[in-house]
Order: sequence, then structure tokens, then C-alpha cells
Amino acid sequence: MSGRPVADLTPEEASRELERLASEIAGHDARYYQQDAPTVSDADYDALRRRNAEIEARFPELIRDDSPSKRVGAAPAEGFAKVRHAVPMLSLDNAFDDDDVGKFVERVRRFLDLSGDADVTFFAEPKIDGLSASLRYEDGVFVQGATRGDGFEGEEITANLRTVADIPEKFRGSRHAGVFEVRGEVFMSHAEFAALNVRQAEAGKPIYANPRNAAAGSLRQLDAEVTRSRKLNFFAYAWGETTQLPGDSQSSILEAFSDWGFKVNPLSTKVAGVADMIAYYNDIAEKRSGLGYDIDGVVYKVDRIALQNSLGFVSRSPRWAIAHKFPAERAITVLNDIEIQVGRTGALTPVARLEPVTVGGVVVSNATLHNADYIAGLDSEGEPIREGRDIRIGDTVIVERAGDVIPKVVDVILDKRPADARPYEFPTVCPVCGSHAVREPNAKTGRPDSVTRCTGGLICAAQAVEKMKHFASRLAFDIEGLGDRQIELFHAEGILRQPADIFTLESRQRAAQFDLTQWEGFGEKSVAKLFKAIDERREIDLPRFIFALGIRHVGETTAKRLARGFGSFAVLAETAQAALSGDMGARERLEGIEDIGGVVAEAIIQFFGEAHNLEAIDALLSHVTVREEEALAAPVDHPLSGKTVVFTGALEKMTRQEAEAMAERLGAKATGSVSKKTDLVVAGPGAGSKLEKASSLGIEVIDEDEWLARAGN
Ligand code: IVH
Repeated sequence: MSGRPVADLTPEEASRELERLASEIAGHDARYYQQDAPTVSDADYDALRRRNAEIEARFPELIRDDSPSKRVGAAPAEGFAKVRHAVPMLSLDNAFDDDDVGKFVERVRRFLDLSGDADVTFFAEPKIDGLSASLRYEDGVFVQGATRGDGFEGEEITANLRTVADIPEKFRGSRHAGVFEVRGEVFMSHAEFAALNVRQAEAGKPIYANPRNAAAGSLRQLDAEVTRSRKLNFFAYAWGETTQLPGDSQSSILEAFSDWGFKVNPLSTKVAGVADMIAYYNDIAEKRSGLGYDIDGVVYKVDRIALQNSLGFVSRSPRWAIAHKFPAERAITVLNDIEIQVGRTGALTPVARLEPVTVGGVVVSNATLHNADYIAGLDSEGEPIREGRDIRIGDTVIVERAGDVIPKVVDVILDKRPADARPYEFPTVCPVCGSHAVREPNAKTGRPDSVTRCTGGLICAAQAVEKMKHFASRLAFDIEGLGDRQIELFHAEGILRQPADIFTLESRQRAAQFDLTQWEGFGEKSVAKLFKAIDERREIDLPRFIFALGIRHVGETTAKRLARGFGSFAVLAETAQAALSGDMGARERLEGIEDIGGVVAEAIIQFFGEAHNLEAIDALLSHVTVREEEALAAPVDHPLSGKTVVFTGALEKMTRQEAEAMAERLGAKATGSVSKKTDLVVAGPGAGSKLEKASSLGIEVIDEDEWLARAGN
């Protein structure tokens, strides 16, 4: 993340890094704003943005059209109507230390042409860690509410916002002609967050990582009643389109908001001068853990609106305000043990079990260790981090908690390493299901990927739900009435553990093991319909079947290609297994399929090498018949069927692999070397020793055209 000092970068390096940062930050934005599932801490994210800004400052000519500095947030997710903000909802520039605050005040002064000792009054507010929303009132009546979205266009969530108790339906008092958009932060208190997660867990639903994600998830409900059941709060602190402002300063306008019936943060206050601002910051930092809701810093805004207007905006943020962020909080503790958690995608994540320690007011006893390389002291490129210090069980470590994200172990204190500290050996089998856990080679670098992944997708309890959702999805088995919700429910209730169980639902119900018709949300009709939909899939086309297995890297297109190339599931499985036991020809046949490279082939081979997967497939095949690929399926009585063929020399009309795949489809066997068992040699230009050997053994030799003719093309 830190990378080389910006001052040392060549323009080429800078350009490459800006490109990388743009895509990395865009990815983080999408996960944060659209999926409510960030994968980095705020501190790390800010560091990425800062580095981007530093590089852009040094190489302004390299600023990209898609630069993160030109964007706020992420485009709206699907599912809600879009709203264009008449006044864009912009973001705030960040200050990370007192120095940055000093520079900000200086900049404001310089811009306003103020002399050295004229103090500017700022209004200081806690920076709430929630989601901003814009509430449109017409003649004092709430008519429309929207999320920020990308700052220019957000999602229309009026119905959901109406359920928030702090958002008045009407302004209090009389005389409110015209438009007024109140803006502020929707957030969830710690108490409600904890209660919600208890309810989620009891219902077998996913747990939210932090109050911000919970607030976001609650606001994005398509059913406003769900939003109502989550107690959300709102603090007003800004405005958008307005016919008339009720004051000439930030402070007086917030007073008006309060008169109108909005909550404004009681900790907001006027400050003048850097010393005051820093004192405010320190005071809020001290109060932070007792507030009952998350804040991630404070915001200073020039109080007078006239001055705000002359300062204006630069790019994505106002020149008249800055967010002074809290640093990530750290503490020192002992690493008691390392345990492995298996995620829904099969990723094995090492979790540090720590001697409980308070980090910024919160007791932390677990923290992530990311992956095997991280524990060993390496980054994803294999370069040393922490100067190569590995982390051992028994070590004294530094834990960091950055606002909302999962705490992480950031360093180890070598001086305190006890003599009996144990180096950690990362498991090679999945602790949940016992399947092999592997690190794929990275296609680009050739290095093992940083993530260790369980290969037992079909049976691993940690992955079962995701795999079955995929299995029943539209491009796979396409079972109507068996959507994500039903699969989660059936799995939580213990009646669905692996795909084969889908096909025994009806018989188990008949055997009175359960009665779906009595379950909430199900009735006689819908259950009958579901069983019928399942029955309709007891016969399935090969490409869908292959795709449904959820083999890593095997998407719909690859599944189609495998189906066409191998014709039957048995041949695909046998080829993968032969490859696993070292048959290079088999591996070549796999890699010979269009677009299948080493990584994909390896994933297929691993999948079929896993006994657990084979058992799950066997179970499945006792209920499901796979239709072989008709167009290319082996004709039973083809003259080449049963023959052993060797291809040698150059082929002009197809690749070697395609020719071999063609032979397989005709029921012939393609091998790599000529022997007494060989029936036919197809020789192209440049054929050498194999051709000689064929002649000496008296084996029939033909050319490519003759081969195609006999194959029937
Ligand atoms: S003022 C034009 N005040 O922080 C500037 N923002 O990084 C409008 N936030 O999008 C924002 N508390 O979601 C402002 N007291 C506060 C805030 C606040 C939290 C959030 C808001 C904004 C983000 C900017």
C-alpha cells in the first residue's frame, strides 16, 4: 500500500500505479457503498486515496478520467429508482493530524485574504459513521428521500426513510413555502446494532459486521417494514436545494433544523483557531467510546455561509470544510492461538485468538491475520512486510481497530517473544470438511495465491449454502421456487446439506420427516409446485450440470466448452482423474479445450481429485440423469470407435488438442506415443521419430485431411 516514495516514481511507474489505484479504489467503493461489505479498514482505504492524491499532485498530467479523486462513492445499486441530486452530495477532504488542520485553516485564511490574526469561526461537529441521506421537503412536507449514491445520482428510498423516527413528516411551526432539502446522516446505535445481530443470528440470517453496514443494509430493504423493525437514527447537518436559508451561518441553520423538529448533534459547537479545534477534537475523542454510536472523526466547517460561498468547492469536496479523522486505535496483547475460519467462498482465514484487550473502548479478543503469507511476514507478492517478522503463537502483538472494520494484528514485538513461541503451520486441509485446502498459482505471477481455499465445495458446510444457491440458480439447474431464501431456510433447518438432498425432499416429506406445507411462507400449492419443478430437473443437459457443480473458474462458457469437448460427464471426470495421477496426455486434453489454461485445468483436476466431491456427485447422479452433449456425443458405431490414435507432426486445420478431443468424442483413444497397441497414426509435416516407429511396426499412417474425412467432417 505504502509503496515507493512518490518522489522516486518515474512517470511510467506513476501512471501504472494510478491505474492500479483507480481500479483498487473503485473495487473498494463498490464493496462499501453497494454491497455494504468493505474488505479494508477505513484507515487503509484513506491511505490508498491519499497515495492517489499524492501521485496526482506530482504528475497532474497523468490524472485519469476515472480517477478516484473525481468520484464520490459508487453508482447506485439496482432495485431502487434513481434520483438526480439538484445540488450534488459531495464528500469531505480529510485531515489526519494537527498539522493538516493547521494547513486547512491557513488555506481558508489565504483564500479569504484574511490577515494573520483575524480568526475565522468554524463550526465543529462529530463526524457520524453512517450513510448520508437527502430529504426533500416541499412546503414543509417530506416528499422524497434519497441516498448519496455517487454524489450526483442516488437511490430513491422515501418509504424507508419515512420509518426513521428522527425524520419528521412535516416541519414544525408554520410558514414553510418552497423547497428545502435537509441532509444528514442515517446511523444505527450500538444498542440497536447488538440487538439486531441477536435477532439475525436467531433467524439464521447473516450477521452485520458493524453498525454502518447494518444501517446501510437496513435502508436498502425493498420492504420498508423491515426497515421499520430496525431502529435507525438521523442527525441533520447540511442541506441541498433550498428556496431560502433560515440563517446566515452553519450554527444558526442547525438551530432552525432543531426548531423544525430534526435532531442535530448536541456535541456540535463553534470554535475559533487551530488550538480550539484540536481541543475539540481531543474532547470528542475522549467521549467517543461512551456516545453509543460510531463516529470516525470530527468535521470543521467555516461557520458563515457567505464565507462558505466565496470559498466554494474543489473537485469532490468543499474548500470550507474538512474531516479530522481519528487514527486507527492500537493495543498490545498476547496471541494465544490461531484458528481457521472458512468463509462462504471456501477461503481459509486465520483468526488470532487474543488475550482480551481494550482497543478504543471496545474489548477485542479476535483479530484477523489475513492469510498464510501475512503470518509468515510476506505480502501478496512475496515481499517482506514487518521486515520479514513472522507471527508465532505466544507472541506479543499489536492489534489495530480502525473504526468499523474487523480488528487486525498489525505487528509483532520480537523482544517479547517467549522461548516456547510456536511458528504457525498453515493447514493443508479444510478444518470444516477435511477436503484439501490449496493455494492456486496466480495466473500472472505464477506465485501461489495469498488465499488458501477449500476444494470441497459441494460438501463443505461452510460453503454449502452458497454452492447450493449456485446449483439451483437460473443458468445451472434452474429450479423454480428454490431461490436463495428457501435454500438458506432449508439449510438452517437442516433438511438441505448438499445438492443431492434437493432430490429427496419429496420422498423425505412423504416419509414424514418434515412437512413443508406447514412452514411459514409455504402452502400445499407452493410445495407441490416446488416438487414438480425439482422433478423436471431429474434430467439435465451436460453443460448445465457441469456449471452447477460450482467448480472454481468454471463459468457457464467454460462448462459449455467442457461439455462439447468431452461429450459426457464420465469422460470429463475420468480425464481429470487421469491427469491427477500424472497422465500428461489427459492434462493436455483438458488444457486443449478453448480458453482453458493451466489454472482452470488445475482447478478441475483438484475438484475431481477430492473424494468428498466424488461422493457428493455420486449421490447426485443416483437422482439425476445427465443428457450427453447430443451434437457431438460419440456415435456408437463409428468406425474409429475403440481405436487408439497418435497425432504427430504439425496439424493445419486444428490444434493437436482439438484433434485429440475429436478422437475422444468418436470413441477413439488418443495417446502420446506409438506402440504395438496403436491402430492409427495421423502425421503432419515435420513428423519424425513417431512416424518412423509407426512404419517399422507396420501401423497405418494417414494425413490430416484423411483423418477429417474418416472422422466425418
Ligand atoms: S458535511 C459538502 N457533516 O461524511 C459536505 N458530513 O466524508 C457535506 N458525515 O458524505 C458533508 N458526519 O456522509 C458532514 N457532521 C457531518 C458529518 C458528515 C458524517 C459524512 C457524510 C459525508 C461524509 C464525507
